[in-house]
Amino acid sequence: MAKRFLDIGLADTTPHPLNLEIDSAEGVWLETVDGRKIFDAICGVGVSSFGHGNKVITDLLHTQVDSCLHTMVYGEFINKRTAEAGELLSSLLPDQLNTTYFVNSGAEAVEGALKLAKKHTGRRKFVAFNGGYHGNTSGALSVSSNAERKAPFMPLLEGVDFLEFNGSLFQIDDSYAGVIVETVQGDAGVRIPDKAWLQELRAKCDEAGIVLIFDEVQCGIGRTGKAFAFEHYGVVPDILCLGKALGGGVPIGAFVSSREMMEGLSDNPKLGHITTFGGNPLATSGAVGALRLLTDLDWNRIETQGASWEKQLLAHNSVKTVRRIGLYFYVEMESADVVTETVMKGLDEGVLLFWFLSVPNAFRLSPPLNMSDDEAELGIELILKSLPL
Ligand SMILES: Cc1ncc(COP(=O)(O)O)c(C=O)c1O
Repeated sequence: MAKRFLDIGLADTTPHPLNLEIDSAEGVWLETVDGRKIFDAICGVGVSSFGHGNKVITDLLHTQVDSCLHTMVYGEFINKRTAEAGELLSSLLPDQLNTTYFVNSGAEAVEGALKLAKKHTGRRKFVAFNGGYHGNTSGALSVSSNAERKAPFMPLLEGVDFLEFNGSLFQIDDSYAGVIVETVQGDAGVRIPDKAWLQELRAKCDEAGIVLIFDEVQCGIGRTGKAFAFEHYGVVPDILCLGKALGGGVPIGAFVSSREMMEGLSDNPKLGHITTFGGNPLATSGAVGALRLLTDLDWNRIETQGASWEKQLLAHNSVKTVRRIGLYFYVEMESADVVTETVMKGLDEGVLLFWFLSVPNAFRLSPPLNMSDDEAELGIELILKSLPL
């Protein structure tokens, strides 16, 4: 394979891609074209949470491929899998989150949520949080905090104010349409909010008539050891953004609200959000599979495996800190160079580790949520072997 994607006529996102050429993937394993087996401790950054090639998902996909693919733009025709995915999602969520708009990606879910908050309130401004990452389309980038990554693309959305995650909420008043927050911040290094802080945020939004948006594109769908991260905090958002693991490996996003709020997108003007592939039957077949599997996850096993990995990582002298919730890990090391060494050694040892975008001196872990205890033991053994002595 060429060194850079650009050399074969494909866009690059980085001058130094890992460039692994994957032949197949099954369960916790990736297999390269040259026959190497690599334990996947990343899951495509939180996508393949139910393991690669999970038959519950692939059977639904095969059936759908044999039935039909795209038949019409979203919002005109209906497919039974799209309806089923929406019903399943509602059945897993609190009553007020009963209406789903399926879209194509996490970033599009965020775009839809921002538009819906504006439409609902008639206001324009947003509160977002330092460390937050919400995607790379212009609206999603506007509410993301990494200034260096935004600089070349300015101007973005106006009227976005950034507050400290877990910090003072004093500034929030009724001039804002919405507050957007990752329930657990991912790219900032698995930053876990205080329960009281999220509850205060909910109360502030209620007081000022602000739409509270939880971005669970990465921390939702089981990653934190509960079906949705907000369940840890006893706080329900007005809009929930999902993506990544929701499609079981097929591209998808979704934003979910009350029916009353979502109606704002179909009227005055109609077609308030249009997306050709939203609710695509193949994508929502993947979602049906993922949501069925979500209900079968063993939360006790996830917690036991997570706690065991955490303990073993913390006991290693090259690891400075671990932050963890469920099977979602931030592992801090001495420096960015040590992290890169570790990721590269991981590939030699047969385990995939990966960087954060915004925290250079730590690596992330987000292994499959349904790995067996034997697989979990093997996974941590390979990770420990990859750490510097
Ligand atoms: C919290 C969060 N929101 C939104 C996104 C954007 O999702 P996508 O890359 O599917 O557009 C991501 C992607 O990493 C994310 O982690």
